[in-house]
Amino acid sequence: MHMSTLTTRLAVVSMLVCLQVSASTRVNKTAEFVATDEWQVIAEGQAIPKGLHVRINLQTGLKEAKLLDPSDRDTALQPQSSDNESGSGSTNDHLSIEYKADLIEESVRKVKEQRSYAELRKAYKDFQKNFRTDAEVVVQLIEEYRNFSKAPLDIELKPKLNILENLEYMLHQIDNALVFIDSGGLDDVLLPIVVNDTNTALKVSAMRVLGALAGNNPKAQIKVFERNFGSHLAQIMMSSTNSAEISTALHAFGALLRKFPLAQHRVLSTSGTQALIGLLRSADIELRNKAKVVTLIGDLVLEKRHVLDEGKEEALAQYVLLEFESWLQSNGYCAALEAVLSKDYVHLLDQADVVEQFIDALQTTESLCKPLWSKSPTLRHALLTVRNRFAHSQDEYRLEVSQALSALCERFYDKFGHTEL
Ligand SMILES: *[C@@H]1O[C@H](CO)[C@@H](O)[C@H](O)[C@H]1NC(C)=O
Ligand SMILES: *[C@@H]1O[C@H](CO)[C@@H](O)[C@H](O)[C@H]1NC(C)=O
Ligand SMILES: *[C@@H]1O[C@H](CO)[C@@H](O)[C@H](O)[C@H]1NC(C)=O
Ligand SMILES: *[C@@H]1O[C@H](CO)[C@@H](O)[C@H](O)[C@H]1NC(C)=O
Repeated sequence: MHMSTLTTRLAVVSMLVCLQVSASTRVNKTAEFVATDEWQVIAEGQAIPKGLHVRINLQTGLKEAKLLDPSDRDTALQPQSSDNESGSGSTNDHLSIEYKADLIEESVRKVKEQRSYAELRKAYKDFQKNFRTDAEVVVQLIEEYRNFSKAPLDIELKPKLNILENLEYMLHQIDNALVFIDSGGLDDVLLPIVVNDTNTALKVSAMRVLGALAGNNPKAQIKVFERNFGSHLAQIMMSSTNSAEISTALHAFGALLRKFPLAQHRVLSTSGTQALIGLLRSADIELRNKAKVVTLIGDLVLEKRHVLDEGKEEALAQYVLLEFESWLQSNGYCAALEAVLSKDYVHLLDQADVVEQFIDALQTTESLCKPLWSKSPTLRHALLTVRNRFAHSQDEYRLEVSQALSALCERFYDKFGHTEL
């Protein structure tokens, strides 16, 4: 290696120290990650929204994410299967370092401790040896997972969770998700956990990975659908009472179904709708998860309506058999939502954001349920109680929610006095 090259590279290595420090102090770990068109650092443990491009920055070793380029988004309503393309992930992978920043820190530490050129050169070589493409890392993680014993062992739980956590980060990126699927990850890693494992933490992590890889990724959605994950998730929703498990199952379920009318048809016409409404009916499910259920229902109802409004012929053809609203009706959605609000409204009084989610759902499905809801004195009582409580708040957000409730009540119930209750 020429001296001048080495010097330049050393400069890079020492610059890493500064980047590492400034990046980790700048990031607020509990703050919500707001994605833009630029790469931004994701703090350790910080949650990120689905559908982003995620990478590990070559220079800093830190995880970064940004919005997808418009050209990367597949806007097709029903994803098109094209196996020819799905293998191409490896051609345009970002170069990335091993999925932990530890190695860089280790190299940098060595550089600081031992300043001879020989040591520096060795540190640089170690550093370089650990470059991997994302695709290589994904494949290696699957291989590591395959090496675990088939029987559940306590000592393997932690390393398994660790692998799933790394996969969750990597598979937000579309290319990585497709590499994972092509390398057998659905069959060898996720399916056995989601279908057969009894460990809740593992199930939750596996469903997070599933949500990450299916979110905003039509090709992945097809594969997930083909493996029958829709009914496996519905099964979990019908049988679990664990809050985290239900919440992640709902998230993965939504990621699978959104903008995928074929899957919506197959899954929601069978166990899917029943599972969603079962969650609303269950006394063991917390209100926050029920709000997630009605939000997903509302989104799916609106998705079809938007397609009908736009009137694009190819899209219409795909949604025409999808009769989610009548499946909701026949599975007792209107009565189930009425009962949730009538019974649990006391718990809504200190959760304005949850109230807002319910209001959105009530509005979206108003045409479907108004005959029932407008005749329900208990629902009326519940909505007015929450409205009145929030109307006396100093908080602007609560006042807004209160106004939305007023508008809703005016539509449902011809007259109601402002002094009522
Ligand atoms: C981080 O962000 C959260 C939420 O925005 C805020 O409550 C908290 O004070 C911030 N912490 C720091 C250290 O800035
Ligand atoms: C895949 O590629 C082969 C050869 O390049 C081609 O014959 C075939 O039609 C392609 N299939 C799809 C689904 O694009
Ligand atoms: C899996 O186990 C085999 C045999 O013990 C070993 O040779 C291989 O390196 C392991 N692979 C990974 C990725 O850990
Ligand atoms: C789940 O367990 C059953 C019974 O042991 C087995 O037949 C089946 O193949 C397993 N399914 C998956 C996806 O691992």
